[in-house]
Amino acid sequence: MTPAEFARRRRQLMRMIGSGGIAILPAAPEKIRNRDTTYPFRQDSDFIYLTGFDEPDAVAVLIPGRAHAEYILFCRERDPSRETWDGPRAGPDGAQADHGADDAFPISDIDEILPGLMEHCERVYYTMGAHPDFDTQVMGWFDGLRNRGQSDGLIPREFVALDHLLHDMRLYKSRGEIGAMRKAARIAAAAHKKLMAACRPGIMEYELEAELLYEFKRNGCDTAYQPIVGSGPNSCILHYVQNNRRMEDGEMLLVDAGCEYRGYASDVTRSIPVNGRFSKEQKAIYQVVLDAQKAAIEKVSPHNHWNEPHDAAVKTITRGLVKLGLLKGRVPSLIKSAAYKKFFMHRTGHWLGMDVHDVGDYRVGEEWRHLEASMVMTVEPGIYISPGTRGVARKWWGIGVRIEDDVLITKNGCEVLSRDVPREIADIEALMSGGI
Ligand code: GLY
Ligand code: MN
Ligand code: MN
Repeated sequence: MTPAEFARRRRQLMRMIGSGGIAILPAAPEKIRNRDTTYPFRQDSDFIYLTGFDEPDAVAVLIPGRAHAEYILFCRERDPSRETWDGPRAGPDGAQADHGADDAFPISDIDEILPGLMEHCERVYYTMGAHPDFDTQVMGWFDGLRNRGQSDGLIPREFVALDHLLHDMRLYKSRGEIGAMRKAARIAAAAHKKLMAACRPGIMEYELEAELLYEFKRNGCDTAYQPIVGSGPNSCILHYVQNNRRMEDGEMLLVDAGCEYRGYASDVTRSIPVNGRFSKEQKAIYQVVLDAQKAAIEKVSPHNHWNEPHDAAVKTITRGLVKLGLLKGRVPSLIKSAAYKKFFMHRTGHWLGMDVHDVGDYRVGEEWRHLEASMVMTVEPGIYISPGTRGVARKWWGIGVRIEDDVLITKNGCEVLSRDVPREIADIEALMSGGI
């Protein structure tokens, strides 16, 4: 993303906030993994969306219409000795020179400076409840002001949820964001293809996870979430991430893995036979899920609302399960009683963006939200038959199938960003036998 795009986003948010408002956003903290080792730093998505600033220990402040400076960044000071160990810091001067801040201060001075910035504002916009320490800090600044006895109308009277405005902005992707998401989807697709080609009975799930991570890393990406590489019974565990089982001949393997390219996620799932050829039962389940995904993607268009792809997937899956004898009864009543949830217990998708389960409301008031061009969502129906499922013949046990793609809503329909990974049975079998 260019500096101009960050500036455009700040202007757009400031227009919505209007004069009399102040928005305050904290950067993500560094997190200890164990003793003095940290997790890889990942900036807070809201913070980086507006600032492009990738350091911890920072706070961004926006005050629309403030004459001296509308965008103020608090950040770590330069420190040659720390920088020798941990790498360069922008420092307040760099924040102004290179990151578009109108004014910048050391983060250590925030308690002195921030109450003064709040003082003449009526409304404070921040994301309440997301960072408990930050809530306490904001209340401390506010209390400080109140205790100074300035109750003559010059202290804020309202606290407003910033996420309501900001998350709506984030839901509509710009041209630059769509470019990044297309790239993230392509890299994930290449990784899934590598994994399919490397898959064979007898190896460990983590060996295939390594194929994914290698492809992500060599393209400059991190993983967007912990990859799921679940074979046999693990293909039926929705959030399985241990990835430490030996895969056996005749089993299914469910792989849910996406990468983060320049801060934007892909989220792709494929379900494949470990030995490269679907059994009769695996094929039957797979085809129902594939048909459901196609029916759902058909409904991804600006003419439809959020729930229509899910409704289409539910209908196809319920019909398919009845046909296979896994559900008994009439399709409409099985849908009404949600009987399909025994096998398909999650929703058909979610918004996708900087966060894998991205922000944005799914309803407007009581109604489902209408899909609009430049939103991105996943479409990911599934059927999972855990070993031991009551009332289900043993031959179906351990078959878990999800097919997940990333879909951009366009003016007239949609574009499947992750379309490079095969999903037809014949194409998967061809790739796994070395045929593609
Ligand atoms: N990988 C998480 C999801 O599919 O929603
Ligand atoms: Mn997903
Ligand atoms: Mn996924």
